[in-house]
Amino acid sequence: MKKQRLDRFISNQLNLPRSMSKTQIHRGKVTVDGIVLRDPSSIIDVDAQTIFYKNEKVNYNEFVYILMNKPKGVLSATEDKSKKTVIDLIPQNLKRNGLFPVGRLDKDTTGLLIITDDGDFAHKCIHPSKNISKTYIAKLDGALSNDMVIEFAKGVVLADKTVCKPAVLGIIEENVAKITITEGKYHQIKRMFGVFGLGVEELKRESIGALRLPKDLDFGECILLNGEDLGKIWK
Ligand code: URA
Repeated sequence: MKKQRLDRFISNQLNLPRSMSKTQIHRGKVTVDGIVLRDPSSIIDVDAQTIFYKNEKVNYNEFVYILMNKPKGVLSATEDKSKKTVIDLIPQNLKRNGLFPVGRLDKDTTGLLIITDDGDFAHKCIHPSKNISKTYIAKLDGALSNDMVIEFAKGVVLADKTVCKPAVLGIIEENVAKITITEGKYHQIKRMFGVFGLGVEELKRESIGALRLPKDLDFGECILLNGEDLGKIWK
């Protein structure tokens, strides 16, 4: 049994402002188990009762999970006074209160970013103890070497003496690498390459666990993730 105020339920599930949700309920647009309820403060059981808004069933999703192909120039933040954030890019039909990005990609990093309102899920994705792998493609301003592959596998020691967990470095081209890490320290990939005197010119996240960035998703576009997609993260 999961109880919730009717106006909150309508507002959250349909992404309507709370004031509009109240007005619509007053106007008799909402039924609960076939009965029109006009009191926005009515308490409903979202698991057991059937709610219709304007004759259409309102499904209950406790949390939402959105995959975005983050473009360059956008902040991985919920809000900012002057700059665009990833939350600003979410289409109206997917927006709801409390959304935040799971971890941060730098402003100039592109690729797979999950946005949710589920704090426990985000913690599981990000916390280094959970060992969730994150794979990036990096274009560097110099040549990679096999020694670096060995050093990444041992665990790179950053300039400030922070020790990184072992990482997998694959050389795709002389100056293009595929890197898999299981943590997310601030500017981690850039700082790891910095130890070897290399600068990162472009960085893109390709996957989290076995969940990959869809090839046909344009920059700034979003898709909703289902249970099967989410399961791939833990593989
Ligand atoms: N590492 C970085 O340096 N930047 C990112 O955006 C992600 C990982």
